[in-house]
Amino acid sequence: MILVTGGAGFIGSNFILDWIAHEQSSVINLDKLTYAGNQNNLATLQGNARHVFVQGDICDAELVRGLLSMHKPRAIIHFAAESHVDRSIHGPAEFMQTNINGTFTLLEEAKTYWQTLSGEEQSAFRFLHVSTDEVYGSLGADDAPFTETTAYAPNSPYSASKAASDHLVRAYHHTYGFPTLTTNCSNNYGAYQFPEKLIPLIILNALNGNPLPIYGDGQNIRDWLYVGDHCTAIREVLAKGRLGETYNIGGWNEMTNLDVVHTVCSILDELKPAADGKPYASLITYVKDRPGHDRRYAIDARKIEKELGWKPVETFETGIHKTVRWYLEHAKWIENVTSGEYRTWIGKQYGAAS
Ligand code: NAD
Ligand code: DAU
Repeated sequence: MILVTGGAGFIGSNFILDWIAHEQSSVINLDKLTYAGNQNNLATLQGNARHVFVQGDICDAELVRGLLSMHKPRAIIHFAAESHVDRSIHGPAEFMQTNINGTFTLLEEAKTYWQTLSGEEQSAFRFLHVSTDEVYGSLGADDAPFTETTAYAPNSPYSASKAASDHLVRAYHHTYGFPTLTTNCSNNYGAYQFPEKLIPLIILNALNGNPLPIYGDGQNIRDWLYVGDHCTAIREVLAKGRLGETYNIGGWNEMTNLDVVHTVCSILDELKPAADGKPYASLITYVKDRPGHDRRYAIDARKIEKELGWKPVETFETGIHKTVRWYLEHAKWIENVTSGEYRTWIGKQYGAAS
């Protein structure tokens, strides 16, 4: 049995589906079901006794304590977080609560639980904290990619809250000998991503004939990784990672936002041409930049490659084709996530014209 937090979100749900397909043990999935949590992501596991869903908050110490003592997991994989940079600019409080206090609560309860385990169970236990490359801040055009020893320099309320959580995890290992692992990954894309993030937002806006909003000059660079490759990397780190270590995970795939958007548009032009015959790229619209917008992220993934033998399987070309196809084939999933709260967010972020 493993305990996954945030398993109804984008990466967490991909991870659980991947885990059930490749591993033998069961999963307890603790998720608050915020706007980003969606049980439809796990619809294919309905009736599967190896997946137990619990709606609840990682900040609820009593709930976490009860789950640990009842299910006795051999590992915790911690995904639960507020994850969207733009939302953290509008309202940082939830980010501090879940990402910092929530991680602290989990660490406290997990440490207490771990201390009660007997010798073999205690030494097999792992707490894997899923974090981001954004904790390292922003790179200049000629800077070397982030390594695990790059100094932390978070620039948004989101990345600052994730950096704080990384430090707490580090401290619990250093002070208490608690068996932690931390992963810092670059931008993910793939199925089940909530359409507030760049790639699914662009796909949906294009299909609806809406403007494709590019912040600033569109030359900001991200290092894109297909979500399935991130899930494999996490399983490798859990199985073979050295205690107390951090592992950077990335796709060696730096692209400007404008190039990403053009790629998505040309795949859509090929798979589902617009009714008016115009290329989707004609919808590209430059909008006001994100405050404090990090210019470039790039991951040096040599440590995980050398130590654990992990490498991404998908190229951006194969991964983005799969992703666009997935959104084209899942109209019902899209309909469900784009009602209510989603419209409120889009109106707030992009204005009435969106
Ligand atoms: P997401 O926003 O899609 O999902 C987050 C999930 O956490 C949701 O299901 C939500 O309901 C749940 N959650 C939020 N607050 C909670 C709370 N207090 N208690 C319990 N559950 C709660 O996020 P994601 O994109 O899947 O990211 C997952 C993790 O991976 C995050 O920690 C994020 O920082 C990290 N990460 C994301 C990316 C990326 O590109 N998306 C890259 C690197 C790291
Ligand atoms: O690097 C890892 C991080 O990647 C994760 O930790 C975060 O949880 C995840 O959300 C993602 O952060 P970004 O801010 O890089 O992702 P987002 O999809 O929001 O934006 C990607 C780039 O596209 C960024 O430079 C901002 C730009 N953008 C985004 C949106 C939503 C636009 O130009 N227009 C948009 O409408």
